[in-house]
Amino acid sequence: VDLGAANTLGLPCRAERLVDAHHQDQVRALADSGLWQGGLTLVSGGSNLILPPCLGGITLRPRLTHWWLERHGEDALVHVGAGVNWHQLVMALAERGWWGIENLALIPGQCGAAPVQNIGAYGVELADVLESLTLVQLDGGEIRYLTADDCRFGYRESIFKGELDGRVVITELVLRVTRRPGPRLGYGDLAQRVSACPSPLEVARAVVAIRQEKLPDPAYLGNAGSFFKNPVVDAEVAEKLQIQHPGMPHFPLADGRTKLAAGWLIDQCGLKGWRRKHFAVHERQALVLVHLGGGSAEELLDFAAEVARRVEHRFGVRLEREPRVAGEFQASAAPLQ
Ligand code: EPU
Repeated sequence: VDLGAANTLGLPCRAERLVDAHHQDQVRALADSGLWQGGLTLVSGGSNLILPPCLGGITLRPRLTHWWLERHGEDALVHVGAGVNWHQLVMALAERGWWGIENLALIPGQCGAAPVQNIGAYGVELADVLESLTLVQLDGGEIRYLTADDCRFGYRESIFKGELDGRVVITELVLRVTRRPGPRLGYGDLAQRVSACPSPLEVARAVVAIRQEKLPDPAYLGNAGSFFKNPVVDAEVAEKLQIQHPGMPHFPLADGRTKLAAGWLIDQCGLKGWRRKHFAVHERQALVLVHLGGGSAEELLDFAAEVARRVEHRFGVRLEREPRVAGEFQASAAPLQ
């Protein structure tokens, strides 16, 4: 089965066996069958995924598309299936006047994938609003409920990238939302783009506008959003760099370390708009690598490694890849972690 349309990078990929799960019982049946032991790749929205030319074993697409609100006065819990499109959920809640995930508008992908990398943007991350989630454990088919604490969220990190990687299928999220106005406008120029007392819809629309200005639309230009994580370095390293580069954006973290802007570092290496064969550094946001068509996963990883090498050479900072690499290709993609 051709999976080309199932990944926003637009890399050619064929899956040996594709299974769409519309219900949690179908995921359990797959777990019980033991078929997943021959290799299982989860493809959700495919927006944070680098696919190899061929995926062996089973490729599972969670398609659970239910969502409903459990109201508790001014607050509510949103129960949402893993297959619901994230942006559509953001807009549906914002339109109905619920605060909580409006800053996360226009993030591509489906809800089930959101906890894996703890999606975040404009000062909010999933960890701030996730109450709990449901998953099916592949080994044994048991259904488990995890609280946000259990998920061990960090910056673009969670237990699903570590201990539980390849062992579970997330089927439902429960998110906290509220009617109590709570705009979070501290990031960038978001505050200047909305009125004094904005609605959640106004904030969501402002975020959409900012993202559309900087980030390429995968429908027209293959990409996986930010290709690298923003590197976190020790305070002394950040101080030294700041002396050498006074304009360098830097964000002190609660643990005393400092987060740098990978996009800025790449930009400073003169790489914005840099093109080699079928891939390029996006001309408006250097953190995004774009696929111009006709390229492969292997070529993309080479291209990314070259970008990372140049940043390390100039700043001594190592960039870590953000999108995940699927299938057997993983082993050869080791250099960037
Ligand atoms: N910058 C440059 N040149 C560039 C890109 C950025 O100088 O080419 C500078 C900007 O001027 C700014 C700083 O770097 O001072 C940070 O840039 P920006 O606000 O665009 O955000 P980012 O750090 O590049 C992160 C997330 C995005 C998220 C935005 C907004 C990561 C890896 N990326 O990008 O998430 O939308 O913040 O919160 O943390 C994604 O993960 O796919 C993604 C798009």
